[in-house]
Amino acid sequence: MRTAILASGRGSNLQALIEAQRSAKLPIEIVAAGSDQFGAGALKRAKEAGIPTRVFHISDYPDRQAQEQDILIWMRENQVELLLLAGYMRVLGSQFMRQAWFPILNIHPSLLPAFPGLHAQRQALEYGVKISGCTVHFVDEGLDSGPIILQEAVPVLAEDTEEGLSQRILAVEHRLYTEAVRLVALGKVNRIGRRVQILQ
Ligand code: GAR
Repeated sequence: MRTAILASGRGSNLQALIEAQRSAKLPIEIVAAGSDQFGAGALKRAKEAGIPTRVFHISDYPDRQAQEQDILIWMRENQVELLLLAGYMRVLGSQFMRQAWFPILNIHPSLLPAFPGLHAQRQALEYGVKISGCTVHFVDEGLDSGPIILQEAVPVLAEDTEEGLSQRILAVEHRLYTEAVRLVALGKVNRIGRRVQILQ
């Protein structure tokens, strides 16, 4: 499955996906990596892995719609069949979503629908939950709101800092995202409205 990744930050999830692809655990081919940030660590990691990269910085476009149209052109040029958001910190607009011919997956560091948006781990600590975790879901037009594919819980410890909790969740994210992508690529994910069934 020809796959593109969009990431805004350091790119540890992108790295985990690249490594899983390399070790033949993932039946996908990562053909392109893009970012909305010039200095994103994710771009460096992709380049080092020999994956072509592109920056779609908002300052290069009249508005967000134009930026997202350019992302779609790039998807078409690369004949993308699957788009993975890996720490891409922008909600994709409705026009983009309507035109997307490929499924889009996202990973989020909480047990959705709890704590969508930015700083999910901080939100979890401030709320005082005892269990958080991460979620891989299909992307829709909302904020971290699409149908859920996989979730895994991570306990919140009494002495946890935002950094400590984030690190423990991140370790699970790398494994969970890889597994969700594998299931999607193998055609084992059946989506009926909001419900997602995993076929054995
Ligand atoms: C990850 O924790 C990911 O779940 C989160 O950004 C981080 C990116 O880390 N994504 C979101 O919060 C999306 N709403 P990474 O750049 O090391 O993969």
